[in-house]
Amino acid sequence: MSAGTTPTGEHPGRTDDRAHATGTVPGADRTMRLGRELAALLRAGDLVLLSGELGAGKTTLTRGIGEGLGVRSAVASPTFVISRVHPSLGDGPALVHVDAYRLAGGLEEMEDLDLDLALPESVVVVEWGEGKVEELSESRLLVRLERPTGGEGGGPADGGTDWSALDGDAPRVVTLTGVGPRWAGVDLAALLEPADG
Ligand SMILES: Nc1ncnc2c1ncn2[C@@H]1O[C@H](COP(=O)(O)OP(=O)(O)OP(=O)(O)O)[C@@H](O)[C@H]1O
Ligand SMILES: [Mg+2]
Repeated sequence: MSAGTTPTGEHPGRTDDRAHATGTVPGADRTMRLGRELAALLRAGDLVLLSGELGAGKTTLTRGIGEGLGVRSAVASPTFVISRVHPSLGDGPALVHVDAYRLAGGLEEMEDLDLDLALPESVVVVEWGEGKVEELSESRLLVRLERPTGGEGGGPADGGTDWSALDGDAPRVVTLTGVGPRWAGVDLAALLEPADG
């Protein structure tokens, strides 16, 4: 049950409100499933920040969360829209899906999204939200998706390098960090245990 759990804190004895787990997620289907399983833990007022490079799987995970929450309309990759509300089909919380990629600033820049008003009744998932929306809540779940890269990714110097083909299907390394009282004692490692079959 505790596989993959890493105690945080370089200061032994200090209890900070952090839950932490890391695991490998092979394939987009597993990313979806992680989202669905994560959704079972989520409730209104939860703030989830997704980080990871372009194409890491943030929207895929959000799609799984949307499925798990049972919300209306499929989660998509926002193109021009930076925020979309998916109301629940039942009596669960709505999913507010924000893509903050184009936003350099923090919450001030997203003022008109009224995320603070939406949060108490919704699960708010923010792609590229790290460092931008933390003030919304004292607790947050940070999901980092990492795509192992072969090289340093300095850029397609010879031209014509298809980055999407390079590591597109490589399993993602996912790190879940729960910050704040909401996540204290939550078994995040269970979400990242390998599939039984
Ligand atoms: N665990 C995984 N292993 C392999 N491929 C995956 C995994 N999860 C997602 N993918 C694939 O990665 C690609 C990019 O996914 P997605 O659009 O969700 O990324 P993103 O992080 O939202 O990108 P962006 O930064 O552009 O918003 C998709 O083709 C998806 O199927
Ligand atoms: Mg995306």
